[in-house]
Amino acid sequence: MEERLKRCVALGKEAAKEGQVASYIPELKKGNPEDVGICIVDLQGKVYGAGEFKKNFTLQSITKVISLLLALEDRGAEEVFRHVHMEPTGDSFNSIMSFEVKNPTKPFNPMINAGAMVVSSLILGDSPEERIQRLLAFTDRLSGTPGHVIDERVYRSEKETGDRNRSLAYFMKSTGIMEGNTEEILDLYFMQCSILGNCQDIAAMGAVLASNGRHPFTGERILKKENARIVKTIMTTCGMYDASGEFAVSCGIPAKSGVGGGILGAVPGVLGVGTFGPALDRKGNSLAGIRMLEYLAHDMDLSIF
Ligand code: DON
Repeated sequence: MEERLKRCVALGKEAAKEGQVASYIPELKKGNPEDVGICIVDLQGKVYGAGEFKKNFTLQSITKVISLLLALEDRGAEEVFRHVHMEPTGDSFNSIMSFEVKNPTKPFNPMINAGAMVVSSLILGDSPEERIQRLLAFTDRLSGTPGHVIDERVYRSEKETGDRNRSLAYFMKSTGIMEGNTEEILDLYFMQCSILGNCQDIAAMGAVLASNGRHPFTGERILKKENARIVKTIMTTCGMYDASGEFAVSCGIPAKSGVGGGILGAVPGVLGVGTFGPALDRKGNSLAGIRMLEYLAHDMDLSIF
């Protein structure tokens, strides 16, 4: 396995040369496009890693998986999907167009920014502070590693420049799609995107999903089996945004990407995988991550299809 992962990193480094580090959140520009890492956690809890797999990065949209899982555990699927659909969009992750053109009664899915904001507004807690603390504690539980924190600089950077998200949120407020205090929901969303983690953290989360909700490190049940199933399905159809269809064909692993450069993958019944490489393609997905996951999927026959 060690050799296989080293080969992945070499391929990832090659692929990363074609990409760009995210710059629309100014603080993310500081990422090193040459960083590449990968980690696998199997269902017995064994950890394999190569490259920069211990390096922290902001989880960004990968936290959409975490917040959806927490909202599902808090409220149940019926209540959550009263507020958000589960349909892929074919549009970019921060697209605003569909709201006016298609006039939906709820955002299309929990993996686009609009849907994620609605999902975060459903997390239980009396204040934004309590909600983010619950999300951080849940990140600790899912990853099996305590002490997750927010990168304050990235959080402030995104809060200062997040006008697209602000416009999405206020549009949803104006049409009644999103209830609650808009500024508080935005703040929670900006904070959650700035949660720091590494490849091992997201590989462990992938392993929890892969084992239908049991933690591979402890055997403890963390999620309802049904919630793990729902989230893996939505990752497959929507997790790579408007590249989800292509990724399903080329790789076939339920996955979720983030503009910090991470991708979380869950191979049902087999393993969790986390990749890191901040050089992104035009759709906001890590080029190194996609290359490594495609290689791994072929080499280990991991496609679910
Ligand atoms: O809201 C945003 O735009 C970012 N905080 C997260 C976007 C993201 O990670 C999209 N992923 N590929």
